[in-house]
Amino acid sequence: MDNTSLVEEIKRYRSEKNAVILVHNYQPPEIHDIADYIGDSLGLSIEASKTTADIIVFCGVFFMAETAKILSPQKTVLLPEPAAGCPMADMINAQDLQNLQKEHPHARTLCYVNTPAEVKAYSDLCCTSANAVTLVEKVLAEAGEIIFVPDKNLAHYVSRITGRRFIAWEGYCPVHADITTDDIQQQKKRHPEAEVLVHPECVPDVVDLADYVLSTEGMVRHAGSADTREFILATEKGIIYRLQKENPEKAFYPASTASVCPNMKKITLDKVLASLEEEIFEVTLPPHIMSRARESIQKMLDYRD
Ligand code: 13P
Ligand code: SF4
Repeated sequence: MDNTSLVEEIKRYRSEKNAVILVHNYQPPEIHDIADYIGDSLGLSIEASKTTADIIVFCGVFFMAETAKILSPQKTVLLPEPAAGCPMADMINAQDLQNLQKEHPHARTLCYVNTPAEVKAYSDLCCTSANAVTLVEKVLAEAGEIIFVPDKNLAHYVSRITGRRFIAWEGYCPVHADITTDDIQQQKKRHPEAEVLVHPECVPDVVDLADYVLSTEGMVRHAGSADTREFILATEKGIIYRLQKENPEKAFYPASTASVCPNMKKITLDKVLASLEEEIFEVTLPPHIMSRARESIQKMLDYRD
């Protein structure tokens, strides 16, 4: 089937089955184009918690679909490619976290949303790259020690802004950790007027070169409202499709053309159609994990209100 026919079929099943298609900013262009909602991890969680659809088709990676299921347990959540995982999320499990908590019995635990559900279940609070600083400053202001898992680079960034020290897990995102200062400097030489937007999953030396440190949705908002016309993006380069579509008069350059998350690219139109048509690759979780994990995610969402 060609792409036009695939899209028509997807749209037909979407309305017949009262489904919604949620898409992360790093997804391939053809997936962006079928989205009901596109966003960062925080926006997608909010959307998943308030949708009135019966089925959520999640075009992203496993921890994101799990988070949607936790927030909407009565709905069917489909991940069209079940092997679309996140290597950073897989760098920690519940046992690792419990061992760390035994070493620091008085610490509160803040987990990045890029974690398995069972890690969220053993955490006090969840965060995304969009709200980590605010949550540390507002919700964990009184906490003595704070365990921050699994991203050491995000922990470093939040620590620098808030002045708080963390007991940080040594995880990282392989895609963002590969972006170098040299990549930024090379692009800056080619595009001296460009603003440098950096995702906080990048290493500290790269963060140091940022004009702005932002989540993916933060980048979209900033690029749309800034007077600047050129931007260098230190993040997964799939975001550029949306940035260019929404801002045709501006120019966007990836810090590194190698910044591709292979897991994010595993979702295809064929897989979305198969998943929706046959209702396959449903995300399921043990009820006790879901209810415990929901507490840490809900606390994060509540703070917004
Ligand atoms: P955000 O879209 O929440 O900034 O996350 C980036 C990311 O790496 C998701 O896997
Ligand atoms: Fe995980 Fe990094 Fe890919 Fe995001 S970009 S899904 S953090 S590996």
